[in-house]
Amino acid sequence: MSETRDKIINLKLYMEQNILGQEDLVRKLIITLLSNGHILVEGAPGLAKTKAIKIMAECIDAEYNRIQFTPDLLPSDITGSDVYIASTSQFEFRAGPVFASLVLADEINRAPAKVQAALLESMAERQISVGGKQYKLPTLFMVMATQNPIEHEGTYNLPEAQLDRFLMYTRIGQPDAATEHRILQLVRNEEKIQNGEHEEAPCKLRISNIMAARQEAADIHMSPAVEEYMVQLIMATRHPEKYDESLKNMIAYGASPRATIALDKCAKINAWLSGRDFVAPEDIHSVVYDVLRHRIILNFEAQAAGMTSDEVITRLLKVVPLP
Ligand SMILES: Nc1ncnc2c1ncn2[C@@H]1O[C@H](COP(=O)(O)OP(=O)(O)O)[C@@H](O)[C@H]1O
Ligand SMILES: [Mg+2]
Repeated sequence: MSETRDKIINLKLYMEQNILGQEDLVRKLIITLLSNGHILVEGAPGLAKTKAIKIMAECIDAEYNRIQFTPDLLPSDITGSDVYIASTSQFEFRAGPVFASLVLADEINRAPAKVQAALLESMAERQISVGGKQYKLPTLFMVMATQNPIEHEGTYNLPEAQLDRFLMYTRIGQPDAATEHRILQLVRNEEKIQNGEHEEAPCKLRISNIMAARQEAADIHMSPAVEEYMVQLIMATRHPEKYDESLKNMIAYGASPRATIALDKCAKINAWLSGRDFVAPEDIHSVVYDVLRHRIILNFEAQAAGMTSDEVITRLLKVVPLP
């Protein structure tokens, strides 16, 4: 296997050693990095969402910024704004914290819609417009947003239509007892180290390593049969009744071609990370929930009946024939 892949696998191992029992989250963060996408991570407080993203940034030789979202944040606190410079009597653009290669948008649902929109727009356009001028964001640009589950008090829902800007929407749960013991052990050790000297992350990836990995993953083969399976899954979100009569009139919007493209990229990278040079149905299964959950919009009746997009995906996976 390639040297580039070894480097990415080292990153994965280092992250797994520091974020225990969250192998799935680690994999999804790496897939996002290699897909040139953005990720939304949802979970209760204290599950190491912030830590996971910080650890990843530690290992990448690129500028990293953390933006803590709060109710009083303004859009210009994210994008930057024109500032008057008295000595030259002119306005000058001051770049905001979104101008970094790795941006942690922490607790994104604690800020109101206008602020969220400023971030979501920059994610999609990869540039900022201020005072009629455009400012390009860095070539490597990945937003890792975290949010508490939406039932939490004092939170603002991200608009459904804009969630599509996230390549993946992943959810994390509580660790089991054995993992809880390991977390304790790890954090006790970390605290000891903090009192002594700080340990540098053993793996540093350059931007060129990431670009090389993207290239390799893009070359992974997908057979016509697997491609057809992937397309059928997407079609099934648009016309579910053709596959499962009980899903009739449940979905307001099915997945868009952007979802298909995302599924294709993520499945290929998943195969590449697993050391295969072709995509298997299991690669699609491994990413399909995180790629589609925010892109299937249920209608009001379905939501009122307690249906979720995860449930729709589960049902569709049962009825769409495997290649
Ligand atoms: N799975 C885990 N692996 C390692 N440390 C963990 C894990 N879960 C929680 N922790 C510890 O708990 C602390 C809280 O994590 P944090 O990243 O602030 O959580 P969140 O952002 O999800 O609220 C972390 O700093 C870490 O020390
Ligand atoms: Mg946090």
